[in-house]
Amino acid sequence: QARIYRNGVFGHRPVVPVEPAELEIAAQRRMSPEAWSYVDGGAGQQRTVRANLEAFDRHRIVPRMLIDVEQRDLSVELFGRRLPAPLLFAPIGVLEMAHPEAERAVAAAAKALGLPMVISTQGSLPMEETAAALGDSPRWYQLYWSRDDSVVDSFIARAEEIGSEAIVVTLDTHVLGWRTHDLDLAYLPFARAEGIAQYTSDATFRGLAEARAAAPSDEPTPRPTYAAVKALFSMARHYPGGLLDNLKSPVPRAAVETFLEVFSRSTLTWNDLDYLRARTKLPILLKGIQDPRDAALALEHGVDGIIVSNHGGRQVDGAIGSLDALPGIVAEVDGRVPVLFDSGIRSGADAFKAIALGASAVLVGRPWVYGLALAGAEGAQAVMEHIWAELDLTMALVGATSLDEVTRDLLV
Ligand code: FNR
Repeated sequence: QARIYRNGVFGHRPVVPVEPAELEIAAQRRMSPEAWSYVDGGAGQQRTVRANLEAFDRHRIVPRMLIDVEQRDLSVELFGRRLPAPLLFAPIGVLEMAHPEAERAVAAAAKALGLPMVISTQGSLPMEETAAALGDSPRWYQLYWSRDDSVVDSFIARAEEIGSEAIVVTLDTHVLGWRTHDLDLAYLPFARAEGIAQYTSDATFRGLAEARAAAPSDEPTPRPTYAAVKALFSMARHYPGGLLDNLKSPVPRAAVETFLEVFSRSTLTWNDLDYLRARTKLPILLKGIQDPRDAALALEHGVDGIIVSNHGGRQVDGAIGSLDALPGIVAEVDGRVPVLFDSGIRSGADAFKAIALGASAVLVGRPWVYGLALAGAEGAQAVMEHIWAELDLTMALVGATSLDEVTRDLLV
């Protein structure tokens, strides 16, 4: 925080805009319209994207005065590891859309800050490469649960092998939401990406290679990504006929069919969590919880943490703003496991509000993707530093010297 101020005073412009709206505008100018729209956009009429932000607007901070705040400690212990600040890099798929260095750049940013990176199942790079770029820095692994148990087993084994400290199971995206902007642009965010490496490097995952070999020779020779294919099959299955033919994608139909069989496991139920529990000793967190009843079920099934999230408003249009869902879940969980939060964090003041409502830590999503698009690793790092610095300043100005002192009575 002091360094950022000093730089400002001496006339050094920040690497990326500090003001969140300016950051978005700058990223929009830099990114292709399709990539921008994919990252920025949400489901349907964007009601939940707005609800996420409005929920923060409805909570106001009430600062207290004449408290000695000279020494402040923003650290938090999660699953046996002390983090320097309650901030994580949210899992974000195929990042080469934002920057050619993709996860490698984000890993460098996370490492520089000592903040955990949650590695997405949909990574552009095999998780092993991301892990190498992270060095000793903490990493968690985010799992999309395949229909094929052997793929799940393999991902979990690899996640353990690369030193993941937790498994984050994302529950809210067993099918892709109604992404109106992408549909209108007939855009496949990852069609040109090379992120399939994540899967082709997986010995248990041979289906795609076979499908590619079997693809009719008049189809273009693609380098499809998992995400591209996943998006395709989701749309093909759930959306109006003919859409598939309009998509600007070099992914062969045969590959789409294969993925159709392998991913998108909408049959999952609570009892399936036992399967995961039996396969890993790592802490298991469920991402996408919005209802206290699901929080109660999660605890019954022995999970180690909950991430209150609505996927940044990208899944159910009209869903409750994520911050509005937080207090009920915190009350239900009653301190038994950590409750983390995402969907709508744009600033340090936002992080403060989520922590005041009971979050142990927050995941940041879109903002650092914009930083990445603008200035690679440095940009992603700068965005997280800005949020960190503002959280620290907000605590100072409000009269809190540690996260324990960031309490609900500081909000109206
Ligand atoms: C996501 N998110 C996500 N979540 C996940 O579990 N696995 C993933 O691969 C992705 N991919 C992804 C791509 C993009 C472009 C976005 C914007 C989001 C959801 C993400 O982890 C997080 O929940 C949201 O980004 C939080 O909302 P905000 O803060 O970005 O509004």
